[in-house]
Amino acid sequence: MTTIGAVSAQNLASPTTSAMNDKDSQETFIIAQATDADIEGILQLQAKNLPKNISKEEAESQGFVTIQHDFDVLQRMNSPHPHVVAKEPDTQKVIGYALVMLPEFRHDIPAGAPLVDQIDTVVYEGDRLGEEDRNSKTKKYVLVGQLCVAKEYRGQGISSAMYREYQRRMAPHFRYVVTAVDLRNTRSMRAHEKVGFQVVHRFGGATDASAEWAIMLFPTTKNKRR
Ligand SMILES: CC(C)(COP(=O)(O)OP(=O)(O)OC[C@H]1O[C@@H](n2cnc3c(N)ncnc32)[C@H](O)[C@@H]1OP(=O)(O)O)[C@@H](O)C(=O)NCCC(=O)NCCS
Repeated sequence: MTTIGAVSAQNLASPTTSAMNDKDSQETFIIAQATDADIEGILQLQAKNLPKNISKEEAESQGFVTIQHDFDVLQRMNSPHPHVVAKEPDTQKVIGYALVMLPEFRHDIPAGAPLVDQIDTVVYEGDRLGEEDRNSKTKKYVLVGQLCVAKEYRGQGISSAMYREYQRRMAPHFRYVVTAVDLRNTRSMRAHEKVGFQVVHRFGGATDASAEWAIMLFPTTKNKRR
């Protein structure tokens, strides 16, 4: 499914949603499922936002991504639930992405195992994330493997629009959407909080000794136990 300006994506249960829709109505971007042809665009945008390619000041004010993926891994992660991408309507250039990562990919990405192992230990409202329910129609959780919006497109509600689409597509399959955010990335923390993610766990290490991570979660529906 493709939406222009994200107008048809389902709202997240967040009080800021209506304000985001005002910005979204400019129709300056498309929200879509990533195709294999978009993987290279995702990797190019990712590369521009790695700490080694931006200044310390930019990382502090604009945010940064930590993990660098391989083409092959991103392509495999793109099925059966494709990554969510934002694109320029005219050029189809990738200007934003929210990666879909199933926990079983933990051994395929750098630092994936320690991060996902921590997530599995989290107990949210009595529900242990690492334990699947045999009788449930849904799996316990899907991970946002990484979120990014191109610098010149930030502040336009694109990350929120991608998350509305993410929730719409993932809700039938997963009970929770979970991600890990470096606590130094205050812009990303805010971008997640404003669409309804909450911090459910914190831990140190995983990628480097000074990193402290917040595990953030939102339930895909109010009726979580399905
Ligand atoms: C994080 C990112 C995806 C957010 O996208 P965005 O378009 O900037 O998101 P939004 O503008 O909708 O939301 C950002 C929020 O943070 C606020 N913000 C901006 N700079 C901030 C900062 N340095 N510290 C804290 N909050 C900040 C904004 O005011 C906004 O909140 P508001 O709508 O309540 O005013 C984008 O900045 C990005 O791609 N950064 C580089 C890569 C990255 O950090 N990815 C996340 C990895 S976990």
